[in-house]
Amino acid sequence: MSAGPDELRDIALAVGREAAVLARAMREEGVDVADTKSSGTDVVTRADRAVEDLLRRRILEQRPDDSILGEEGDDHAGTSGVRWIVDPIDGTVNYLYGLRDCAVSVAAERDGELVAGAVVGIGAPVEYAAATGHGATRDGQPISVRPDTPVGQRLVHTGFGYRAEVRAHQSACLARLLPQVRDIRRFGSAALDICHVADGSGDAYVEEGPMPWDWSAAAVVLREAGGRFGVLPGTMALEGWPAESVVVATPADGWDAFVGLLREAGFLA
Ligand code: IPD
Repeated sequence: MSAGPDELRDIALAVGREAAVLARAMREEGVDVADTKSSGTDVVTRADRAVEDLLRRRILEQRPDDSILGEEGDDHAGTSGVRWIVDPIDGTVNYLYGLRDCAVSVAAERDGELVAGAVVGIGAPVEYAAATGHGATRDGQPISVRPDTPVGQRLVHTGFGYRAEVRAHQSACLARLLPQVRDIRRFGSAALDICHVADGSGDAYVEEGPMPWDWSAAAVVLREAGGRFGVLPGTMALEGWPAESVVVATPADGWDAFVGLLREAGFLA
């Protein structure tokens, strides 16, 4: 079943909206922790599962031959060449604590290339959407990255995964980066952090080890807003840790200078 990037974006936004409504309603009823994953602090709530089930159902109702990769469930293999990458609640810890920065993230890949994405706020009513060749929007209005900020004046967003060894390594790199930039922010949702680079409410984002469901939709938003996104080889030495693990987002024309800073700070191999 063929569909253009803009049609896939529209599906991503529609299912993302419905999922965000469910996530908000479930938060009002009280959040239950159902399980933990990579560490005792990496929680899965009942809402993570219910929202992901809804996303999967809605996508397959419309596109039964597509594949799905989701944070909380098994991979679903389809035959169409389109794969959806979904995070029902990016920013689960914020969701648990009643904080604002959490979002549903829905991306579509065609033949291995990300072509559409939507990031829909749960705690705050904001919607980012993009499709390759069709630009990026926030709440329906076109967005673009902040014009390149001098390297020492960049506001850098970051986040931390849940493994203690990775946190220790990343925080040592951030301690070296901090004196070289305007400041560092940690809001708690990688998808929203990258969208903040896309709409100019940040100059860059870096994190060791976030997963494709955390960043795929936002990467499309960023690229369509004039940004550059990459997953680069890092210096973290840990058994089973992927060689390419440092996720970086900046305005396209600020990429080389920021990557240079990350290398000096010890993030990059
Ligand atoms: C997490 C958030 C966080 C980032 C972590 C992610 P989750 O996603 O995006 O900001 O720093 O790497 O795992 O667990 O809330 O879906």
